[in-house]
Amino acid sequence: MKRLVSGIKPTGELTLGNYIGALKNFVQLQNELEDTEFFIFIADLHAITTMQEKSNLRKNIKNIAAIYIACGLDPNKVNLFIQSEVNEHAELGYVMESTLYIGEMERMIQYKEKRANNEEAIRTSLLTYPALMAADILLYDASIVPIGEDQTQHLEITKVAATRFNHLYGETFTIPSGFTPKTGARIMGLQDPTKKMSKSADKTPKDYILLLDDLNQVRNKIKSAITDSDNKIYFDKENKPGISNLLTIYSSLTNIKIDDLVAKYENISYGEFKSDLAEIVVSELSVIQERYKEIIGKKELDLYLDKGRENAKRVASRKLKKVYERIGLGRK
Ligand code: TYM
Repeated sequence: MKRLVSGIKPTGELTLGNYIGALKNFVQLQNELEDTEFFIFIADLHAITTMQEKSNLRKNIKNIAAIYIACGLDPNKVNLFIQSEVNEHAELGYVMESTLYIGEMERMIQYKEKRANNEEAIRTSLLTYPALMAADILLYDASIVPIGEDQTQHLEITKVAATRFNHLYGETFTIPSGFTPKTGARIMGLQDPTKKMSKSADKTPKDYILLLDDLNQVRNKIKSAITDSDNKIYFDKENKPGISNLLTIYSSLTNIKIDDLVAKYENISYGEFKSDLAEIVVSELSVIQERYKEIIGKKELDLYLDKGRENAKRVASRKLKKVYERIGLGRK
C-alpha cells in the first residue's frame, strides 16, 4: 500500500491559491488513486514559526479541518489529523535536524527572505522548519506529496534528508515524489500578479480570494483584478502577468486547456472574460461554503480528527521506534 501525505498551516484563512495549488489536488488524487493511504494534516506546529494569537490558532485549526471536508475529502477514506496531536512529528523533526546541515536550511527561500528584510526576532523554528516538514513526510514513508510550487524546495530537502539518513544508518525511509499541478501550482495575487497569492499582513484584501469570502466580494475582487491595457486575451506570463494568472485560475477550475480558453475568448473584452471567470469561481466556492457551514461546529468533526490521529499514530510510532533503533538511541 502506497501512502500520500500533505498538510496546510493554520496561519489564517485559506486562499484560492491554497485550493488550486494543493487542496483541489488532494481531492482529485483521493478519487483517482487506488491502493493508497492518505494522511492529510493541519500543520499547527509549523504555524508557530511566527507568533499566533491563541484563540485564532485554535479557530484556524478547526476551520482547516472543516475546509478539508468541505472541499471534498472523505474523512472515512482519508486520515485527517492535527500534527501536534501526533508527537512523533516533533520527535522525528529533531532527528531530521540532526541529519540536515545548517547551510542547507539557510538556503531555503522563506528564511532567506526574512533575513534579507532584516527582520528581527526570527524564530529558530523558521530556520529549522524544513526539517520538521521532512519528518512529516518521512514518518509515513509517503511516496506522493501534493504541494504547490512554493513548497518544492522543501520537498527537495526532504529527499536529501531521506537519502542521507538511509546512507548513514541503513535503508529506512522511502524517497518521496512531489505532485505539483501542471496548471495552477503558483496562483498569483490579483492586485500584484508578480507575487504569489497569500493572505499576509502587507497585502490588501483585494489581492487574494479567501475560500470563505462573501461571494459578492469575490465577484468584485475578480472584476477589479489588475490587467494590462492591451485588451487581448492570451497567455504571456512575463508581459501579461494579470491576464495569464486569470487564465490559469479559469483553466484550473474548469479543466479547459489554456489554449482552448484563448481561442474561446478571442476578440472578447477583459470585462466579459472577468465576469465569466467570476461566476466560475463563485460557483466553486458556493459549494464549499455550503458544506463548510454544515460541518463546522459538528461533533463528527472531532470524531474524524480522533480517528485520523489514532491511525496516524499507529504508523508514526512504529516508524519512529525503528529510526531510534537504527541510530542507537535509548536501549534495546
Ligand atoms: P502552506 O500552509 O503555506 O500552503 C499549503 C499548500 O498550499 C499551496 N499554496 C499555493 N499553491 C498555489 N498558489 C498559491 N498562491 C499558493 N499558496 C499556497 C502550498 O504550496 C502548499 O502546498 N510547509 C507547508 C505545510 C506543510 C506540508 C508538510 C506540506 C507542512 N508539512 C508536509 C506537505 C507535506 C506550508 O507552509 O504550506
